[in-house]
Amino acid sequence: MAKQPIKPFYFDITDDEIEYFAEQSKNILKSGRLILGENTTAFEKAFAEYVGTKYAIAVNSGSSGLEIILRLKKAEGTTVLVPTNTNFATVAAVLRVGAQVQYLDMDETTFAPSLAMVQEAVAKGATPPISGVLWVHIGGVISPEFPQVVEYCHQQGLFVLEDTAHAHGSQIKGVQAGNLGDGAAFSFFPTKVMTTFEGGMITLNDEQEDYIARSLRNQGKRGMDFGGLHTDFGNSTRISEIHAVLGLIQLAKLPQMLDRRQKCYQLITAPLREAGISFVSTDHQDHASQYKLIVHVPQGKKAQDIKSALAEENIFLGGTVYEIPCHQQPVFEGICEGQSFPRAEHWCPNHICPPLTSGMTEEEAKRVGEALVRHL
Ligand SMILES: Cc1ncc(COP(=O)(O)O)c(C=O)c1O
Repeated sequence: MAKQPIKPFYFDITDDEIEYFAEQSKNILKSGRLILGENTTAFEKAFAEYVGTKYAIAVNSGSSGLEIILRLKKAEGTTVLVPTNTNFATVAAVLRVGAQVQYLDMDETTFAPSLAMVQEAVAKGATPPISGVLWVHIGGVISPEFPQVVEYCHQQGLFVLEDTAHAHGSQIKGVQAGNLGDGAAFSFFPTKVMTTFEGGMITLNDEQEDYIARSLRNQGKRGMDFGGLHTDFGNSTRISEIHAVLGLIQLAKLPQMLDRRQKCYQLITAPLREAGISFVSTDHQDHASQYKLIVHVPQGKKAQDIKSALAEENIFLGGTVYEIPCHQQPVFEGICEGQSFPRAEHWCPNHICPPLTSGMTEEEAKRVGEALVRHL
């Protein structure tokens, strides 16, 4: 008999939560307060408390969050260091605010750049001058070097922004992702460890930046004066009250969802460790979002063959992080032309991300680990 399919995505919601969501949605519709109301405020407050920052500002996507934090740092007309191994959105945000991109290569143990790569890029310099780094905690993995990257950049007078789209709940040395640098942007896209349908959250510690970020998401209108005065070059990137309700429901159960993911990570990786199969470990972190488990494809094997073999066993893999580095994406042609990023070029097509969700049973996680050993 064919085994139950194991899928790469799972929307974690119970019948009770659906009922509560419906009830709250009804209240919102009846109240007529559709945006910037009490649910948005409550979601922001709860999220800031969870991450440990003073402020959190809800937006309509991780992409708009990135754009706003770059604008807060006045990145326009400067060069920003960005890993080439990231989602389109990270690089696009830098370009959208009118900054130049200088890519960084990656280290295969974290799938993020190393401290040495940042130091080398800073030492080399750029035209226009480098203002900072937009760092990505890929798959929810915080590089053990990240605190040193922040320290080094600050010594150099550079900002460090975090793209925390994958890193809800990831923590290192007692500090959560989103509170490790000078500002962060989370994504609540449906595939992420928590979702609001679409949505994002900025986390900050500076009062004036909080004030401006709220203006930037609301067409540049400062304070609570939603009249006709536009002071900043903002956009309409607010979240709706209904999105915020789902955010509150998901945030309340985030620790539980992360515990389940962590358990599955342990069960999947136990046989990999025993068989000596290499993967990106989060063992150095206090907690990890376990958004993606990154498994290196051994030399001589092909990612596609492994995916097909697993599909034969009814185990279906989702996207990787990432199959094609940004410097090879057609839309970004011309950026850093002539430069090569050999580690990203090798590892982007040579890793797989097995299913790892909060909906998986322990049996399923064990099945994934054992199947990986058979096919890797
Ligand atoms: C690393 C990274 N940054 C930013 C984003 C953008 O988030 P959103 O889709 O919410 O705009 C994503 C989204 O998928 C992402 O993976």
